[in-house]
Amino acid sequence: MPREIITLQAGQCGNSVGSQFWQHLCQEHGIDASGNLAPYATEGGDRKDVFFYQSDDTRYIPRAILLDLEPRVIHGIQTGGYGKIYNPENVYVHKEGTGAGNNWAAGYATAGTVEEELMEMIEREADGSDSLEGFMLLHSIAGGTGSGLGSFLLERLNDRFPKKIIQTYSVFPDTQNAGDVVVQPYNSMLALRRLTQNADSVVVLDNGALARIAADTLHVQEPSFQQTNQLVSTVMSASTTTLRYPGYMHNDLVGIVASLIPTPRCHFLQTSYTPFTGDNVEAAKTVRKTTVLDVMRRLLQPKNQMVSTKPGKNSCYISILNIIMGEADPTDVHKSLLRIRERQLASFIPWGPASIQVALTRTSPYLAPPYTTRAPPRVSGLMLANHTGISTLFKRIVAQYDRLRKRNAFLEQYKREDPFRDGLGQFDEAREVVMDLISEYEEAESKDYLSGGQGEDAANGGADSRTDGVTGR
Ligand code: GTP
Repeated sequence: MPREIITLQAGQCGNSVGSQFWQHLCQEHGIDASGNLAPYATEGGDRKDVFFYQSDDTRYIPRAILLDLEPRVIHGIQTGGYGKIYNPENVYVHKEGTGAGNNWAAGYATAGTVEEELMEMIEREADGSDSLEGFMLLHSIAGGTGSGLGSFLLERLNDRFPKKIIQTYSVFPDTQNAGDVVVQPYNSMLALRRLTQNADSVVVLDNGALARIAADTLHVQEPSFQQTNQLVSTVMSASTTTLRYPGYMHNDLVGIVASLIPTPRCHFLQTSYTPFTGDNVEAAKTVRKTTVLDVMRRLLQPKNQMVSTKPGKNSCYISILNIIMGEADPTDVHKSLLRIRERQLASFIPWGPASIQVALTRTSPYLAPPYTTRAPPRVSGLMLANHTGISTLFKRIVAQYDRLRKRNAFLEQYKREDPFRDGLGQFDEAREVVMDLISEYEEAESKDYLSGGQGEDAANGGADSRTDGVTGR
């Protein structure tokens, strides 16, 4: 039984990332730019139907809904190489086409005025699946559309589909350097509230970390969005590999979410991927050595992390899932886990099993010769991790927000929009939710977390109960 996932891509960033993600999936599944299966794509065992459905003429169509308040990016996608694979009925561009002007409130309010149209599209797509598992929202949180319209959708999806998983891939702004959007702390704060309250799982990527990785690993100074989006789409396709090439575990979204998120509010995940090379990312240097241990060790290095955090001395992992692709022998994985444990390369929460879970997965045969010219790395890996250090990113957003708010800067454009007609309460509520989230992560560093500070043996296990697990193909 397929467990279908509908992808919603909102705004410039969401649609640009989405377009590369779909190209990536098409290549992996041997689907050409018209949606037809390539003549060579005869190997079975992959599950195309999680992300695609077949039209009457058997072409593969992405279960994707493209949304924007201005036409430029979507128009570029539709007239580009893979433009014909999307269902034109699943494309929404607001008729005024002016965008949300980097204003969360404008994106949110405009979405409210066209709610019926948006929800009808989503419900039609949901009705077209046999066993819908959930939704994936792709967006940035710093601008107006991905952030505001994205927030609106998260709230509505929650109401309308309470039992479906809602996962987001959320591109955070570069919070360490002056961003390209002056009001990004406002927009980020307002969106962060919805990500906290209305999503089951949020994969956080930030543009600062993405630019740093592109510079360090790929030796590209000042990377273009095209290049950073390749990093993002690689991460997205790797994190969905176990859904598309299923083994006996982690083969649905709920399984992945459940293994990483033990308490519902701490649901912000960070990722690392290695090596970026070969066909994944152009211009990447070939890495010298890719053993399982190297891959697993690199995944734990802060420099490979796609989000900029500053973990404190008590920061620790709540959970880790490594998805290892390629020629990985389970014995090597066990040895690597042992090595990581001996060298204490990862410290875990004191109230739960200190485990690195590993999923060994098959990958697409079509990314290697004879189908491509370049051989992929022998082994590659993605780490999905729940780490309390993510709260330092949220703290930075709060600090930047407080600085703007103290000066009452740029508030007029927000006050003009519906959510702020009765005052600035939206801002205060959002700040409160984000502060609670930060506290929750800080509390998760203490051993009394699950008992709410009331006792010793709060949870199942403790620091010594190591249950590193490997699941295979
Ligand atoms: P409006 O332009 O206000 O209608 O909203 P929008 O959601 O379309 O804005 P956009 O997605 O451009 O959001 C701005 C934020 O996203 C900034 O932090 C940009 O740096 C970032 N951004 C924009 N496009 C991309 C992209 O293709 N890739 C990445 N990684 N970031 C992007």
